[in-house]
Amino acid sequence: MAKAKSQYLCGDCGASQPKWSGQCSECGAWNTLTEVRLATGPVAAAGGASRYAGMAGAAACGVVRLDQVRQHRQARLQIGMSELDRVLGGGLVHGSVTLIGGDPGIGKSTLLLQVMAALAASETCLYVTGEESAEQVAMRARRLQLPTASLNCLTETSIERIIEQAAASKPALLIIDSIQTIYSEALQSAPGSVSQVRDACAQLVRFAKQTDCAVFLVGHVTKEGHLAGPRVLEHMVDTVLYFESDAGSRFRVIRAVKNRFGAVNELGVFAMTDGGLREVSNPSAMFLAERQAAVAGSCVLVTREGTRPLLVEVQALVDTASAGHPRRVAVGIDAQRINMLLAVLHRHAGIAVHDQDVYMNVAGGLRISETASDLAVLLAVLSSLRNRPLPDDLAVFGEIGLAGELRPVPNGEERVKAASGQGFKRILLPHANQRGLKAPAGVRLLAAASLQQALDQLD
Ligand code: TYD
Ligand code: MG
Repeated sequence: MAKAKSQYLCGDCGASQPKWSGQCSECGAWNTLTEVRLATGPVAAAGGASRYAGMAGAAACGVVRLDQVRQHRQARLQIGMSELDRVLGGGLVHGSVTLIGGDPGIGKSTLLLQVMAALAASETCLYVTGEESAEQVAMRARRLQLPTASLNCLTETSIERIIEQAAASKPALLIIDSIQTIYSEALQSAPGSVSQVRDACAQLVRFAKQTDCAVFLVGHVTKEGHLAGPRVLEHMVDTVLYFESDAGSRFRVIRAVKNRFGAVNELGVFAMTDGGLREVSNPSAMFLAERQAAVAGSCVLVTREGTRPLLVEVQALVDTASAGHPRRVAVGIDAQRINMLLAVLHRHAGIAVHDQDVYMNVAGGLRISETASDLAVLLAVLSSLRNRPLPDDLAVFGEIGLAGELRPVPNGEERVKAASGQGFKRILLPHANQRGLKAPAGVRLLAAASLQQALDQLD
């Protein structure tokens, strides 16, 4: 057996250093470095002491030619929940590690229990819970009417014992709920501390890569909406999913913010019901369901999140500012971008809102990050300002540049199809997107090259 090596981990930021020093070279904290012994060489994969046994296995492969790397006969596990399979990029990749973050009570444990039940018929799965008792998990499974006889649950928080158990039962899917409750016996810091979370995650990643077991990690989210614990967690795993929802809404959106095996920003839409999470197969219809006809300040946007177009309602409320600085409040859209767009509206269409409060919202709790929403934002603002509803059958998309030009956005044809599919008869779009495009039957394409032209089209 090779001789044991030491590493020094900072208890604050989780950085590791080969030598001890009084101050962490990463974050500058004093007296936070603690020694961690690493076992090297061919040690058995299981067991408390051989924490880094995985490294030896991975290194043993040496240099390989990529054409000789063995391919799993079936590249991905199909979970069978098509919304989740799509967010993952077409199913769960063997040996992948997926971190799923979200507010407490949003449905992370429920979702993963359902995932396990969906796979349990054909694969061995293990649900490790450090938050709830086995009784509570069983109770939830019964409530969801899942086949409890094929569901294995382990109540454990020691990473060494979890890996020992997993190495023995060789699951194809391992669920850890949650990573913040897991601790390593080899580290002295408290569970949930940066070094513990980082270390537990590293061991699970190694386990996944060595055994081809797919791992799901539940991660808590802080008030600011970031994953609690070190940011490095996001770098270590293959896929990061966020569970989002509007306060009080029963709809849940799962978004891939990082995915080594698929498109980022891919969305999966679910509804929380008495029977757990149910997929929403036509999310556009859902996002538009609450829309009222002929209301000023509402504009339907054809957005594209991930690989699928979606129709959502962008809402604006423009009201005389009472005193001093006018307010700019945005939910679901970047507020900085709205400031910029209001400046373009003033400069290139001559419409000033500097004495008005502007509130923006994306109905349904969706967050829009693409610039194709620019035109919808300004049309909603204008509609509210003039108290004039936009046509009921109008959907729009397009980016607005600082020169007031309406710029093309990717996948115009797909967006037009999606809007027409939802029954919209008029689609206002950038001129460059319209070029070469055939309008679907019964649909009028209104093309504009600038913001001014777009406004003229609607007058
Ligand atoms: P949970 O999965 O425990 O959330 P997390 O693990 O993200 O903290 O979900 C708990 C919430 O979901 C709780 O408010 C009740 C609700 N819920 C339902 O509405 N229906 C159900 O069938 C289940 C199991 C939970
Ligand atoms: Mg939970």
